[in-house]
Parts: sequence; C-alpha cells; structure tokens
Amino acid sequence: MDLKLNGKTALITGGSSGIGLACAKTLFMEGVNVVIAADRDLESAEAEISSSSEKSGAKVVAIKADLSKGESFQPVAEAVIEKFGRLDILINCAGAARAGAFLELDGQDFLNAWTLKTLGYIRMTQAVLPHMIGRKDGRIINIIGAAAKTPPPTFLTGSTANAALVNFTKGLSKELAPKGIRINAISPAATRTERAITLARQTAQAKGITLEEALADSSSSIPIGRMIEPSEIAALAAFLLSDLASSITGAEIFIDGGQTPGI
Ligand SMILES: NC(=O)c1ccc[n+]([C@@H]2O[C@H](COP(=O)([O-])OP(=O)(O)OC[C@H]3O[C@@H](n4cnc5c(N)ncnc54)[C@H](OP(=O)(O)O)[C@@H]3O)[C@@H](O)[C@H]2O)c1
Repeated sequence: MDLKLNGKTALITGGSSGIGLACAKTLFMEGVNVVIAADRDLESAEAEISSSSEKSGAKVVAIKADLSKGESFQPVAEAVIEKFGRLDILINCAGAARAGAFLELDGQDFLNAWTLKTLGYIRMTQAVLPHMIGRKDGRIINIIGAAAKTPPPTFLTGSTANAALVNFTKGLSKELAPKGIRINAISPAATRTERAITLARQTAQAKGITLEEALADSSSSIPIGRMIEPSEIAALAAFLLSDLASSITGAEIFIDGGQTPGI
C-alpha cells in the first residue's frame, strides 16, 4: 500500500520510547521527517530511528521538553516549523499515569496524570493548530487507551485522563473537519512497552500479587492471549495519517485483541 506520506513532517510527543518510538520509526521508514519530543533518553532514540531505514531520505530531530509544563509547547511547535517549514502530522503519545489502589493514590497522582496526558495532548494540539489551519491540512492522532472505556479500579488516574481525551478528540473533530484537519484516537489495550512493566509492577503491589502474576493477568485478559505490539499501533497510525483514510475523523479505534467488545 502506498501511503504517500513521503516528504511530510511529523511531531511525536513521547517519541523516545514504546508506542511513540514505534510510530516514529514507521513514519521515518515512509520518508517522513520525524521530530520527537520527550524529557529524557533522546540521543539513543534518535539513533534508533535514524538507523531503522537506510532508504528513508528523511531527517530525525529530537527536542528535549518537559510536557507537564505549560511553557514547553509553543517552543516545540515553533522549532519544528523553523527546522522543516511545515508541520503536517501530530501524534500525541507522552503519558506516564501511575497505577495503584484507589485509597493509596492521592490527588497529586491524578493531577500528574491529567496534566501530562490530558492537558499535554490538548496543549500540543493548540500549539500546532494555527499552522495546520493556515495550510488547510493536518492530521492528528491521540494515543489514548482502552481503559477509557473499561476503567480498571487500579488505574483510575490513567482511565479518567483517557476518557476526557476521547471526549476531546470527538468534540474537536467536528470543528476541524471543515478546515481540512482530521483528528483520531487509537486506544490500545496493554502494549508491550517499558510502561507496561511499570504498570504491572504498580498493579501487582495494589493487588498483593507478584509482577509475574500481574503480567500474566494482563496478557490472559486479552482474548488473543498476548499483549499488543507497539508496531501494530504504529501501522494503524500510518494508515490513519495517510490520505487513504481521508474520510476518517473523530474516530476512536481499539487495538485490544478483542478485549473491549462493547457496542
Ligand atoms: N503501554 C501500554 O500498555 C499502553 C496502553 C494504552 C495506552 N497507552 C498510552 O500510550 C502512550 C505511550 O505509552 P508507552 O507504553 O509507549 O510508554 P513509554 O514507553 O513509557 O513512553 C512514554 C513516553 O512519554 C514520554 N514522557 C513521559 N513523561 C514526559 C514528560 N514529562 N515530558 C515529555 N515526555 C514525557 C517518555 O519520554 P521521557 O521519559 O524521556 O520523558 C516516553 O517517550 C501513553 O499515553 C500511554 O498512556 C499505553
């Protein structure tokens, strides 16, 4: 399938690890200039993306930014446009909500999750939109999470952040569609990243079980019997970002191995 993404420029928050890194590599392989924004470990991610394809012809840039801080967003958007002259694609993916038993989490745990993920996705979208509206073209993907629809009691920090983002994605899509901008959500179930291990460790502690038991629970709760691979999310993202999906906006697509069969 020719996605015709070659020559476009993408900004990926949380592009240094896990799902964001997989998206960065997939788009780079499609010839997309990739800018990753994250707070740590940028050099190794930049090298990993660059070495993922010898034929790409595209560039990779890493920007250090703490996306839990309001002042970080405008400079990131401006740096992308200054470097490449355009910003066609935004993938919002930076998130780090803490799991735990409800009575052991405090207000700050909720605020941290909402500030980085919910407000972070909203702020980054606000920072890139004037440029996209000016060009009458833009494609945005929010990596949200199946916990928005099926909230686990030990992950209410993340599931409440996610539920608000589904609302945001669908509501904003109506305003952006006539301006040539599409915004969609991908909601994965447990995905094999570093974060999945951290979450399993926190869940194990909350439930009084071992890490191995928490990881086994996580996989066995998915009907296909395994966690989702980050590359599977990246493949759907690349399709949704292409003109092959030009009528798809305001959608939330689950990649959950059949875990969320609700209608
Ligand atoms: N893995 C799953 O099971 C799963 C399931 C559903 C949804 N999701 C969602 O998918 C997204 C990515 O998750 P993942 O599993 O790929 O996690 P990950 O491997 O831990 O990656 C998280 C990314 O967010 C960045 N980040 C964290 N705090 C940041 C901050 N303050 N400022 C800037 N960047 C920050 C990290 O970079 P630095 O640490 O370098 O800053 C990293 O690039 C999250 O929104 C998560 O909720 C994950």
